[in-house]
Amino acid sequence: PQHRPLAGRTAIVTSGPTHEPIDPVRYIANRSSGKQGHAIAAALARLGAEVTLVSGPVALRDPDCVHVVHVERAEEMRDAVLAHLPADIAVMVAAVADWRVASSAEQKIKKQPGEGPPVLQLTENPDILATVGHHANRPRLVVGFAAETQNVSANGRAKLERKGADLIVANDVSPETGIMGGEKNSVRLISRQGEENWPELSKAEVAERLAEKIAAMLG
Ligand code: C5P
Repeated sequence: PQHRPLAGRTAIVTSGPTHEPIDPVRYIANRSSGKQGHAIAAALARLGAEVTLVSGPVALRDPDCVHVVHVERAEEMRDAVLAHLPADIAVMVAAVADWRVASSAEQKIKKQPGEGPPVLQLTENPDILATVGHHANRPRLVVGFAAETQNVSANGRAKLERKGADLIVANDVSPETGIMGGEKNSVRLISRQGEENWPELSKAEVAERLAEKIAAMLG
């Protein structure tokens, strides 16, 4: 008999970076491979959930048995996520760009001899996790990630409150850890019930354990 504790549950997962256009050929983005988010979507599906993965631009195959929506910009990602509410579970793993260019150019910006570089006016992007965490149709379980380079617990705990999440998966992404773009992850789970440190695991193993944890939390 298969172990499918999430059968009958719906989940929305975000993954990858967002690309915020400067002009038709240039963009602003965070570093993100999408490996962790895609693995989580696949793991939730294996436990029986009906999963929608909203993915920014990544070089990964769409996971099997998951409905994938491809987006580029943060605003598109937010719209796609909200279009899939209500859901039982939301896991926001995407490395959403905090800012976008206020008015991106319709034509390629040309180098102007003697004029110096262009000045980009930035504006804040929507916080998708916070929007979902405080939404009237809030999923029963809202999970966020926190990539920190210092004060992992304090920053994770603050994020839990600010974003209305039930669980924050925090990791130390200091360059020396090699986590960014790598296969391994070492995370700390932060909830209102307390904290849990997981040993260094592959991103696939983090995804498996997190999906089991989510199933247990939903009861
Ligand atoms: O504030 P910070 O970017 O560190 O928060 C990380 C968490 O918030 C991640 O779960 C990320 O997917 C989510 N987030 C979001 N929309 C943003 C910024 C972050 O959903 N604009």
